[in-house]
Amino acid sequence: MKLFVTGGAGFIGSNFIRYWLSAHPDDVVMNIDLLTYAGNLENLHDVAQNPRYAFVRADVADASAMKTHMAGADVVVHFAAESHVDRSIMDAAPFMRTNVLGTQVMLDTARSLGVQTYIQVSTDEVFGDLPPDPQKKFSEVSPFAPSSPYAASKAAGDHLAHAYFRTYGFPAIVTHCGNNVGPYQFPEKFIPLAIVNALAGKKIPVYGDGLQSRSWIHVDDHVRALDAVIMRGRAGETYVIGGEEKTNRDILHAILRLLGKGDDLISFVEDRPGHDRRYAINDEKIRNELGWRPQYSHAEALEKTVAWYRGHSKWLQHVMDASYQEYYTRQYGARAVAGNR
Ligand code: NAD
Ligand code: TYD
Repeated sequence: MKLFVTGGAGFIGSNFIRYWLSAHPDDVVMNIDLLTYAGNLENLHDVAQNPRYAFVRADVADASAMKTHMAGADVVVHFAAESHVDRSIMDAAPFMRTNVLGTQVMLDTARSLGVQTYIQVSTDEVFGDLPPDPQKKFSEVSPFAPSSPYAASKAAGDHLAHAYFRTYGFPAIVTHCGNNVGPYQFPEKFIPLAIVNALAGKKIPVYGDGLQSRSWIHVDDHVRALDAVIMRGRAGETYVIGGEEKTNRDILHAILRLLGKGDDLISFVEDRPGHDRRYAINDEKIRNELGWRPQYSHAEALEKTVAWYRGHSKWLQHVMDASYQEYYTRQYGARAVAGNR
């Protein structure tokens, strides 16, 4: 099979590509990424020379580039997005462009080329937040009620994917996963930010009272869930993918313990506007229908991730001093540029 993966230089996309090349030795993967601040080709340094892997720098909202490069793809896995809630609160415009318009371009292109499997990788954040009742969890039938511009832009893209199935019979599948933890995540998100600051002995900002909870999953478990959906999922369906519910305080205490640091690094700061209080997921459908199970407990996922950041100081250094953005030029020069921003 030929996979067309967007956003493969980001956190989840890069973990997905590394996994797929190893788990499916007959398949080829094309990675399309605009290399925004969140795109880092160093995340894929170990597969860059693999003959079954190709990279093209392009914008998912560029219809002509998508048409050129998607031709011949059997499967499209659409990860590319603006993904950080706090940035969406500062400026929603790039979120609308990439997450809404970009998704429409992806759907139109895939439909015109007759792509047989299209995965819209989305988030549980489209469902808004849950009351404290532990019985209440998100499932495939939960209504969309996004709180942030990020979540609203993802919900719009997901609605489009469903509408293309209903209107045109286009074989889109939408997945909604909880918060991922794992290697190669940009340290603007909570867990890598906490690890990086703790390693440097710097304060860790905790929004509000820190008692907000999320459904946390190791990125490898998410990637294997996507494999199950690609191979066995049904067109037009939705699958939610969950993890373990933990509060931000729980997570921070665990990280500080793993790093041998004290609670004095915790700094409670002003809450995020519109901050969702609680996410939790009932993922019986993907377990029962597709036979997926997570392999890591939250404690294992966090321990592995903390160890990874500790052991990858060069990667981290390149992210912190912004030199990761030069990797593209060193590796690919001007050859691979198909679009730019
Ligand atoms: P990320 O921010 O780490 O990576 C996004 C990637 O998309 C980057 O490489 C960036 O360069 C690329 N990109 C951005 N705009 C683009 C454009 N216009 N054209 C082409 N490429 C572009 O994000 P992530 O955390 O890896 O998330 C990937 C996907 O998974 C997103 O769609 C996100 O909504 C979804 N998701 C993330 C989580 C999570 O916990 N991180 C959970 C559930 C779902
Ligand atoms: P984040 O990693 O931004 O993911 P999301 O908002 O998409 O769930 O944040 C995870 C949780 O951590 C969320 O409740 C917000 C909180 N948070 C902080 O308390 N401090 C921070 O500096 C960040 C980035 C997030």
